[in-house]
Amino acid sequence: MAVESQRFATLRPRSQAAASRPDGFYAGVPLHWMLDWPMPFPLIIDCAQGSVITDIDGNALADFCFGDTGSMFGHSPGPVVQAITRQLARGMTHMLTTEDAMAVGELLQQRFGLPHWQVATTASDANRFALRVARAVTGRDNVLVMNGCYHGAVDESYVTLLDGKAVNRPGVIGQAVDLTQTSKVVEFNDLPALEAALAARDVACVMMEPALTNCSMVLPRPGYLAQVRRATRDTGTLLLIDETHTISTGPRGYSGAHGLEPDLFVLGKPIAGGLPASVWGFTDAVAERWTHIRATKPAGHSGLGTTLSANALSLAAMRAVLSEVMTPEAYAHMDALAQRLSEGFERVIRSQRLPWHVLRLGARVEFAFSAAAFTNASEAIAAHDGALENAIHLGLVNRGCLITPFHNMMLVCPQTTTEQVDRLVQAFEQVTRLLHARS
Ligand SMILES: Cc1ncc(COP(=O)(O)O)c(C=O)c1O
Repeated sequence: MAVESQRFATLRPRSQAAASRPDGFYAGVPLHWMLDWPMPFPLIIDCAQGSVITDIDGNALADFCFGDTGSMFGHSPGPVVQAITRQLARGMTHMLTTEDAMAVGELLQQRFGLPHWQVATTASDANRFALRVARAVTGRDNVLVMNGCYHGAVDESYVTLLDGKAVNRPGVIGQAVDLTQTSKVVEFNDLPALEAALAARDVACVMMEPALTNCSMVLPRPGYLAQVRRATRDTGTLLLIDETHTISTGPRGYSGAHGLEPDLFVLGKPIAGGLPASVWGFTDAVAERWTHIRATKPAGHSGLGTTLSANALSLAAMRAVLSEVMTPEAYAHMDALAQRLSEGFERVIRSQRLPWHVLRLGARVEFAFSAAAFTNASEAIAAHDGALENAIHLGLVNRGCLITPFHNMMLVCPQTTTEQVDRLVQAFEQVTRLLHARS
């Protein structure tokens, strides 16, 4: 870390000077997550275009992070830039619908199969709103999540298993009520635990990713998701599938690729090409019960929606993403290069006899510090090594490649080139060799 930190700083005198100036932001950055990177001071970005991100010192990096999925279809995709440029001078937000919005509704129906949709501003919001509706239509208070999950700033999901018992996540700040009163948590891939937790028929909704992507990557065992669907249906529990990350699987997400049948579906991050927006969809059955409940309530203050949700600018962007960016051709390119990336990493791991593995979910690739793939989050968390991750990530930055600061997640976008993938594999080889030599 010391050697790589020095090298990072030497290449960035302007950024270092800028980062040391007081700027009015708490902790020096507009979002404290920006301190989660392993660099000695924040990268200050001048420009991001396609698969390249350039800092104010002129260092160009091949981006494999894409703002942790928000720019998964490349930075500033052409059709999105054109759409929002057209919309910019025609009104950005007015709390009224547009022709773009109508087109988006139809595009979402066609692509994901669910008949009803709403737009929110972040995936966190979409999950929160979907959970509210789930509770309302089932008349049940509890929510069930998977251990090691992340669904955004959603209170219900800030629970974890400690020695098999549900507890509030230790990192959560300012939590006034005990979340385990209304949230249950089980290990991913553990059907008996799920069945036991649903048996009392007091859970409104299971909220889950179809594969865990936020504690390293954990894939579902064959048949597991079908069993989850059966167990939820048998107990009158709704199933919310959050595809915010697993949309890497293909143009219709993991659900479309594997025939899942969620009652509620959430997709945030890249859906508007990098502008803040998310969508949530639901079945006729949910819509019918929700409409009935709305009719019994006074208007307003429903706890659903925010003022800037579904603004005209993000709807214009979403229309462009759904019709011109998120195409089968774009996914075919991402898939092929992610496959190349994953094979390259496997080659390096094998040749250096590292007890690590690599997994891939379409355009998303993850390496982890254990020989065998994980079956649940507890295994993934036990294998986590923050210091090693930081050293590798910083070493990769110094060799021209940026990967996600959270665990070892890498994404390939439609503009990623073979040369960039090979550069990342080569950088990984150099960095791991250096670490090997020093250990
Ligand atoms: C699966 C999943 N859902 C929801 C979110 C929350 O997204 P946002 O921070 O944009 O609200 C994340 C963020 O990483 C995520 O991984």
